[in-house]
Amino acid sequence: MSPSRGNAIEKPETKTWLPGGAPDPVAQKHGLLGQPISRLDGPLKVRGTARFAAEVVPEGMLYAAVAFSTIAKGYMSLLDVSAAEAAPGVVLVMTYRNAPKMQPPPLMNSKPLAAGASDLPIMQDDRVHWNGQPIAVVLAETQEQADHAVSLIRVTYKTEPAVTSFKQAQAKAHPPESILGEPPKLEIGDVDTALESASHKIDLTFRTPRENHNAIELHACTVEWDKDGCLTLHDASQLISATAWTLAQIFGLPENKVRVVSPYVGGGFGGKCLWDHQILAVAAAKVAQRPVRLTLSREGVFRVIGGRTTTEQRVALGAGKDGRLNALLHTGVAAMTAHNSCPEQFTFPARHLYAAPAIRVAQEVANLDMLANTFMRAPGESIGTFALECAIDEMAEMLGMDPIEFRRINEPTQDPTSGSPFSARHIVQAYARGAERFGWSKRSRRPRTRREGEWLIGMGVATATYPYYRMPGGAARIRLTADGHATVSMASHEMGMGTATVQTQAAAERLGLPLDHVTFEYGDTNLPQGTLAGGSSQTASIGAAVIAAHHALVQELLKLAGNDWPLAGLKPEEVEARDGRLCCRESPERCESYVSILKRARRDHVECQVDAAPPDELEKWSMHSYGAQFCEVKVNAITGETRVTRFLGSFDCGRILNAKTAASQFRGGIIMGLGLALMEETQFDERTGRVMNPSLAEYHIPTHMDVPTIEVLWTDIPDPQSPMGAHGIGEIGITGVGAAVANAVYNATGQRIRELPITLDKLL
Ligand code: MOS
Repeated sequence: MSPSRGNAIEKPETKTWLPGGAPDPVAQKHGLLGQPISRLDGPLKVRGTARFAAEVVPEGMLYAAVAFSTIAKGYMSLLDVSAAEAAPGVVLVMTYRNAPKMQPPPLMNSKPLAAGASDLPIMQDDRVHWNGQPIAVVLAETQEQADHAVSLIRVTYKTEPAVTSFKQAQAKAHPPESILGEPPKLEIGDVDTALESASHKIDLTFRTPRENHNAIELHACTVEWDKDGCLTLHDASQLISATAWTLAQIFGLPENKVRVVSPYVGGGFGGKCLWDHQILAVAAAKVAQRPVRLTLSREGVFRVIGGRTTTEQRVALGAGKDGRLNALLHTGVAAMTAHNSCPEQFTFPARHLYAAPAIRVAQEVANLDMLANTFMRAPGESIGTFALECAIDEMAEMLGMDPIEFRRINEPTQDPTSGSPFSARHIVQAYARGAERFGWSKRSRRPRTRREGEWLIGMGVATATYPYYRMPGGAARIRLTADGHATVSMASHEMGMGTATVQTQAAAERLGLPLDHVTFEYGDTNLPQGTLAGGSSQTASIGAAVIAAHHALVQELLKLAGNDWPLAGLKPEEVEARDGRLCCRESPERCESYVSILKRARRDHVECQVDAAPPDELEKWSMHSYGAQFCEVKVNAITGETRVTRFLGSFDCGRILNAKTAASQFRGGIIMGLGLALMEETQFDERTGRVMNPSLAEYHIPTHMDVPTIEVLWTDIPDPQSPMGAHGIGEIGITGVGAAVANAVYNATGQRIRELPITLDKLL
């Protein structure tokens, strides 16, 4: 999910994003951009007129239900579906015996458009690879009939020894080939010697649990095959182009015969990718020769959609009396399977945050027989910052320093591991503003000194960080019609984060058109190819493609405008769009409107489609988002209950494109971070490999009553190297929250909890 980075260059150049070296007017000016415009898709959702993937109703559609294995490894010695087949309304029971031939899914990151969450074969034989694997799909005339029939399936297993204990798997831990294109191990200087000789040192172990994806919308799809063998998948998806390509490989179809449509998604977070359920729905629809809807139950989501994996992490720090770090070590192991590609990049923050002459980061994976783990909002960074930022807090305390001051002293001037210059880094400023606003100076340095009745009160702080990514391979199309309306199209995604609104704003600003004269089309692979909505990369990826398409459009318009009119002889970079016109930048009185240009050229529209420039900025610069997370908690001295009473996030993420949707993204990330800190935990039975709490009754996430007022601030300083000066902000909000809460709990109680979630039993 991330492009690899090259070596540092000596002389940084400033990317302008416009050919010819002109500055991008949209990154600088504050017109529509930054405005708190309400979600354009909001009214459709509130009124119930937005049709989600499980609300499309093709003629003759069947409903699917899935049976899951109850062992972790082995095979089915008996699979009796006769009662299910005889049940009322049942049209098909699909098992490995009658499923069509399917290629294993190409694994994500193995090819540009590969989307497989795992490359295990799907329903091709009697083998079981994890506890919860789909072993049969029932199609019936109603959902109730399908659900009933699935309960009649009888299975006998022959079990084989399975690795379901993390400790057991750790004995064979090994470094993966790469961590999203980065080396699993990096060492600068001599860490062991530096640690040995440090006057102040700590060496700590942190543990983080499994977590499952729980978007409000259940994973669901509706499948249609037409008479010509063309497949349409209505999906809840954050990577439609890759899903279409991958389905074509699995089913041996030409790529142009697969269409994926996903206009509305009820939350993604990394989980709305390609899993077994879509593939099985496509297969069952092919066998039954009727359209199929497959909606996973909440339990089904726990059984077949992977989540965050468990880790054990070590952080060791050495510092001198002056508070300067002389050694930083962050290593550890994540549970994984042999069939997936998500090693949980928890050492990424330590590669970029602190100046230290000796740094070692190293990650290993330990393979278990379990459901493939996957990306879940800031995979790696969310739990990596928990370990690192708790350790930083402990080190500051040992030195008798304020933790913010300790971080300031260790602020690097260039990327500490790659040596690349930072494209934009205003983390010290974000800390200063956050501290001022939060009232950090009122914190008592000594723990367990503030008490109100039964409640111990404390404050904590931690750094948030997430990389800037931009994915290669996207293209945008802009069509401008003679009535002065524009349609911008790209097969991208709106999962509730505000993409449709923000990209409409950005395109309107760039085109110099009012918001209601611009339509942003997305969510359909019939549009120009999009990149995934993942790795907080989509905003910049779309932005770069739109810049390229817009440049071509202006060129075309100038050509149409001809030689004897006000714009004669101007190049695209010499003009600027405003109020439905193109104007010369130097002499703004030289102007002509789009309507006039097209009318004179006798054209009803002009259209351009261009690929985005490759993400070269990532090769030259160290590009990251930052934040300072401030937390106040009260912990009940008798029951151990922790309540978060105040929270503030002060962010530095480039130019903020929409103040309202950005605030929601930051807050949403922080709320998910409160869940990570205090409650989320998949209970995994290490004897059987079974998830024991596959429901929202037993798997706890924050409710309204758990969430205090959350204030968010941002620097709004454009990153000169990114399109529109912006960074994606979908994931940064969750990072640092676990540590901010843990550090606040320490300040309140004097107890260091180094294992998530911080439940009350750990505080008693
Ligand atoms: Mo994100 S975990 O890349 O949707």
